[in-house]
Amino acid sequence: MVIYFDNAATTYPKPEEVYRAQDAYLRRAANPGRGVHTLAVESARAIFETRVALASFLGVKSAERLVFTGGCTQALNMALKGFGLASGDLVITSPLEHNSVMRPLHQLERAQGIKVQPLSYKGSGTGVVDLDELTSVLANEHPRLCVMAEASNVTGELLDIAEIAGACRKHGVPLLVDAAQSAGFTDARLDDLGISIWCASGHKGLLGPPGVGILYVSPEVELEPLIAGGTGSRSEELEMPGQYPDRLEPGTLSGPAIAGLGAGVAWLQATGIDRLRRHELFLAERFLSWAQARKDVEIYGPEPGGLRTAIVAFQVTGISADRVADILDRHWGIAVRAGLHCAAQAHRALGTAGTGLVRASFGYFNTADEVDELCRALSRIAASGG
Ligand code: ALA
Repeated sequence: MVIYFDNAATTYPKPEEVYRAQDAYLRRAANPGRGVHTLAVESARAIFETRVALASFLGVKSAERLVFTGGCTQALNMALKGFGLASGDLVITSPLEHNSVMRPLHQLERAQGIKVQPLSYKGSGTGVVDLDELTSVLANEHPRLCVMAEASNVTGELLDIAEIAGACRKHGVPLLVDAAQSAGFTDARLDDLGISIWCASGHKGLLGPPGVGILYVSPEVELEPLIAGGTGSRSEELEMPGQYPDRLEPGTLSGPAIAGLGAGVAWLQATGIDRLRRHELFLAERFLSWAQARKDVEIYGPEPGGLRTAIVAFQVTGISADRVADILDRHWGIAVRAGLHCAAQAHRALGTAGTGLVRASFGYFNTADEVDELCRALSRIAASGG
C-alpha cells in the first residue's frame, strides 16, 4: 500500500466514476465530429456534454470557447505562442511560475524579441505578488500580457486572483491564468473575474485522467492556431475555421480522457468543492502544525492558516531533499516529490534553486492517519541523520 502525497503532480486515486466513464467511452467510440453515424454522434455528444458541464462549473457563458487540449502545458503554449506577441512586447509574470510558462516565454524572447519581467517575491504569506508593484508596472510599463499561476506548484501559495484580475482590467492588460494547481480547489468563475485566458490540467484537481487540458479563450481575445489540421468543419478551406472550438481543436481529441474529465467534474460538484478543500486543508494544516513545532523541519510557504492549497514544501535539516524522498519511498511507502518541481524560477525566488525541496501534496482521499505516518517517518529520518 502506498501513501500517496503527490497529488500536485497528478491526483490519485481517481473517483470510480472516472475509470468507468473512460471505459464506457472507449467501448462505444468513433471519431467525434467526423461522421453522422451513430457512434460518431455518441462520441461527439460525450465531448459536448463535458464542455457544457465545464462551462457551468467555471462560470463561462461561451462554452464553445472552452477548448480541449492535450494538457495544461499544451494549453499554455497555445495561448502564449498564439497571442501574437511581437518584438519589444513586455510580458509580466508572477515570481513563482512553472517551466510550462517560463520556457515558452523564453522561446518567445529568443525568437520574437519579447521582454519577460517576473514581479519580485516579497516572501511567503504576502500573497505572492505585491499589488502596488503590479499596479505600478501595469500603469507605467504598458505590458501586452500578464501571466500568473493562481497557485504555486512548489509552496502551494495562492494569489488573490480577483484582485489581480481587477487590476489588469483597470489598466486594459489581458490576464492569462495558469490554473494547473488551483482548478478544482478555488471557486473560479471566469466570466465574473474577467479573466482573458485560463489554462488548466484535467488530471489534477479536476480529477480526470491525463491526456486532457483546458484552454479558455474569452471572446475579447483571438488566438492564432499553433497547430492546423482537420476539424470536420469547413473542410473546403485551407484556412483554419474561425469558429471555436474547431479553430483550436484540429485532429482527433482524446475522447476517453475528456469523458473521464466530465465524470471527475461531476463527482467534484456532487461531493462539493468546499468539502474537498476543507478536508485537504485540514490535512495540510495538521502537517504544518507538527512541522512548526520542530527545529529540524523548515517549511517554505505560508504559515499555518495562510492562503494556500494543500501543497507543503519543506526541508529536513542536514539531509538532502532527494534523500528524504528516497527514504520515504523505499522504507515507508510514502510518495512525495523532491527537487525543483519543474519550477526553477520559483525555487530561485525561494532561495532553494541549489538544494531543491521536499513537497507533500495532500488530496481528498488522504487521511489524518496517513499524515501522522509521514510525521513519524520524518521524525525518524531527522533523528537518524538520513
Ligand atoms: N507540474 C506538476 C508538479 O508540480 C507535474 O509536480
